[in-house]
Amino acid sequence: MTATRGFGIDIGGSGIKGALVDLEKGALIGDRLRIDTPRPSTPEAVADVVAKVVRHFGWDGPVGITLPAVVKKGVAHTAANIDPAWIGTDADALFAERIGRDVADVAMLNDADAAGMAEIRFGDPEARHGVTTLLTFGTGIGSAVFQDGKLVPNTEFGHLEVDGHDAEKKAAASVKDNEELSYHQWAKRVNRYLTVLENLIWPDLFIVGGGVSKKSEKWVPHLDIRTKIIVASLQNNAGIVGAAAAAVEGIEH
Ligand code: BGC
Repeated sequence: MTATRGFGIDIGGSGIKGALVDLEKGALIGDRLRIDTPRPSTPEAVADVVAKVVRHFGWDGPVGITLPAVVKKGVAHTAANIDPAWIGTDADALFAERIGRDVADVAMLNDADAAGMAEIRFGDPEARHGVTTLLTFGTGIGSAVFQDGKLVPNTEFGHLEVDGHDAEKKAAASVKDNEELSYHQWAKRVNRYLTVLENLIWPDLFIVGGGVSKKSEKWVPHLDIRTKIIVASLQNNAGIVGAAAAAVEGIEH
């Protein structure tokens, strides 16, 4: 029997969010729990929060967990917006031990890949055909690339060099806040970024997500590029939903 309920945790640069997920609808069941990401965001400190989130829901099944990092076979390999101690950490083993699960019952994946998986399964059906690229604008910029619905894991297009800069240092949503840019000013940076990216990978569709997609009407109309752009339909819960789906379906790295 296929599971209809799952559990996902989305670890971000500013918050750690967990919820029960209805895997048929691709929606949260009840409220999510959000706890500020500890500072410093070391593996041990984050594992404490993850254990707390799992306990809060009394969940005892498989758990999907995202990290804002390259994750291969459960091991984190980068740490742009989390503590550098993550690099080389076997996150799968760490969390499995902390929450009392078999490593096979903990699925670790990149946060944008998880959000993309959720959009492919539960969002606009157009995303399932051709080359779709989801971008999340938050503390950094995350990317997920799909060919006919199949994920190419761990793309890191947020770190594309654009006009001599790491793209996310200029065009992440956090930069808009830190530099007090208007939506229009920030949209110009996003437009430049998307133009460079579309010229390199020629996707059929961009999906723009992250918290700032809730206010999409303020910036998406300013974008003017060749590729069609749609707004993520699961918005800020996509990471949780995708993580829960990955825990049930398994993931390839
Ligand atoms: C990280 C990615 C992550 C993205 C969004 C980037 O800085 O390198 O792995 O997906 O931020 O959190």
